[in-house]
Amino acid sequence: MLFRTCNLAEPLQLSGLLQELEQSGHQLDLLVNNAGIGTSGLYVEQDWSREQHLIELNMLALARLCHAIGGRMAEQGGGQILNVASLAAFQPGPWMSNYYASKAYVLSLSEGLREELRNRGVKVSVLCPGPTRTAFFRGARMQVGHLDTRAVMMDAETVALIAVRGLEKNKAVIVPGWRNKLLAFSSRLGPRWLVRKITAALHKPLLTPPPL
Ligand SMILES: NC(=O)c1ccc[n+]([C@@H]2O[C@H](COP(=O)([O-])OP(=O)(O)OC[C@H]3O[C@@H](n4cnc5c(N)ncnc54)[C@H](OP(=O)(O)O)[C@@H]3O)[C@@H](O)[C@H]2O)c1
Repeated sequence: MLFRTCNLAEPLQLSGLLQELEQSGHQLDLLVNNAGIGTSGLYVEQDWSREQHLIELNMLALARLCHAIGGRMAEQGGGQILNVASLAAFQPGPWMSNYYASKAYVLSLSEGLREELRNRGVKVSVLCPGPTRTAFFRGARMQVGHLDTRAVMMDAETVALIAVRGLEKNKAVIVPGWRNKLLAFSSRLGPRWLVRKITAALHKPLLTPPPL
């Protein structure tokens, strides 16, 4: 087995990785696009370099990997792709606007590719977890300590296991946990203005520093 690190947000490093894969001639069976970061706060006041980094990692790198490796899989006549989106993909997310928009992109791209690649033997699934106990919120500069209960946060291991089972069943959209399924469903049913207001109200107290 080969381990290789890569800063996926650096286009040159990503090109190098893809070139190595091309030259290795290895059969590519599975691509998991998990890397992603979050940002929070008033978008227009955030450091642009962090927002750009989010776009480069959450969308550009994922799109390029799907293009290059998905293309190789289509040539091979088989393969499987799992893209990690989020519950955030189903709705707009005031105070995390760029992050939510990036995950909507991942969900839409994944579902589109699933249909395009179906007849080429490539299976595409997308994972949409809700709040999960990882380093994500620290990276996004959010305070979620009081939400760290079993009712709100899922364990990363549980989410990963559900993702693997979903992959085995070739599910299109994998939403771990019944609460998250309910949230994904209700955010699509509720009026858009109400969903925006509720999401804004939920996010605001989690921001560091709190908005004025
Ligand atoms: N935690 C949640 O509540 C939650 C909910 C829904 C969706 N998600 C999504 O789940 C995915 C995994 O996040 P997580 O919760 O596990 O957060 P995390 O603990 O912060 O992990 C982020 C992962 O992304 C990798 N990464 C970050 N920047 C990278 C870069 N420039 N190049 C390559 N890899 C990079 C990190 O690698 P290193 O460890 O090497 O830095 C790490 O493996 C993300 O796409 C996130 O949006 C998370």
